[in-house]
Amino acid sequence: MKAASFAFVAISSIAPSVLGGTYSRSENIVGQGFYNSFNFEAIGDPTNGRVQYVDRATAMSRNLTFASGNTFIMRADSTSVTGASGRPSVRIRTNNAYTTHVAVFDVAHMPQGCGTWPAIWETDEANWPRGGEVDILEGVNDQGSNQVTLHTTSGCSMPASRTQTGTSLQLDCNWAINGNTGCGVRVNTASSYGPSFNANGGGWFAIERTNTFINVWFWPRNAGNVPADVRSGGTAVNTGSWGTPTANFPNTSCNFPSFFDANNIIINLTFCGDWAGAVYGSSGCPSTCNNFVDNNPSAFTNAYFQFNSINIYK
Ligand SMILES: *[C@@H]1O[C@H](CO)[C@@H](O)[C@H](O)[C@H]1NC(C)=O
Ligand SMILES: *[C@@H]1O[C@H](CO)[C@@H](O)[C@H](O)[C@H]1NC(C)=O
Ligand SMILES: *[C@@H]1O[C@H](CO)[C@@H](O)[C@H](O)[C@H]1NC(C)=O
Repeated sequence: MKAASFAFVAISSIAPSVLGGTYSRSENIVGQGFYNSFNFEAIGDPTNGRVQYVDRATAMSRNLTFASGNTFIMRADSTSVTGASGRPSVRIRTNNAYTTHVAVFDVAHMPQGCGTWPAIWETDEANWPRGGEVDILEGVNDQGSNQVTLHTTSGCSMPASRTQTGTSLQLDCNWAINGNTGCGVRVNTASSYGPSFNANGGGWFAIERTNTFINVWFWPRNAGNVPADVRSGGTAVNTGSWGTPTANFPNTSCNFPSFFDANNIIINLTFCGDWAGAVYGSSGCPSTCNNFVDNNPSAFTNAYFQFNSINIYK
């Protein structure tokens, strides 16, 4: 692995928890490259979703994943009536794992539809929750805006006052509190999630993880303040010029190296289950979650991720 080129920018007027740095690109994942960087996890859903995760051969033969040029698509089946075994869908996990890093996700479309529960996140599945979890993009049933959340073991919490544009939710990151709610930040931009995100042509999500903070940014496609190095997806980024993060998790009461180990990036699309299913009744969606997902394949034609690229910087 390449040595990290990591230099703190000395801007004393910015709080230490949001100090950025310069990073060099270590991976440029585009189109067919997704097949090299990710493996397909044909596993049972640990969150009890109405989903059947398929392996790579099945995903390719059923066109649930598709790569061409600068496009990678992963989606759920939208042609079959399904049943208790769940709607076929895809869950992919990077072969590489990351400690301190920056990742920029250029997303053109995200899954939408009643019953959907898509996520872009980072964790160490074999060592959960001890290895930590960062949910970069997550939501259910097309509702509301995106939520960014950390989940850890006991002893990591966030201060109420932070330098961020989002709104702090629960401050304790401990997975054992309130049914694994975690310490979340609500993104105050409607176009950060679901149908509004898609109508707007998507946008960019970015995470910067250091030993002293984790920051997450979201820029809608048409925003005037998208940093040039994010927009171009080039060979270097300077997070010090990215402005106030959407979500800021400082190390005030959380020693990051002891709560987070090397995490993989996981992208998954499940249905119903512990979150989307639990709140389905109040979502304005028809029928019951499982029944809707089983019997309405055409409602899932927009249940897909489309990526322009994922760039990793060290
Ligand atoms: C999908 O992603 C979410 C991330 O928040 C995770 O909680 C859930 O366990 C994942 N589902 C599966 C089946 O991996
Ligand atoms: C597979 O999906 C892509 C992208 O949606 C589409 O352009 C292509 O026609 C599909 N291929 C088949 C065989 O359906
Ligand atoms: C946060 O980071 C600073 C700078 O490295 C360090 O001195 C401090 O002990 C850290 N705080 C915690 C709670 O780990």
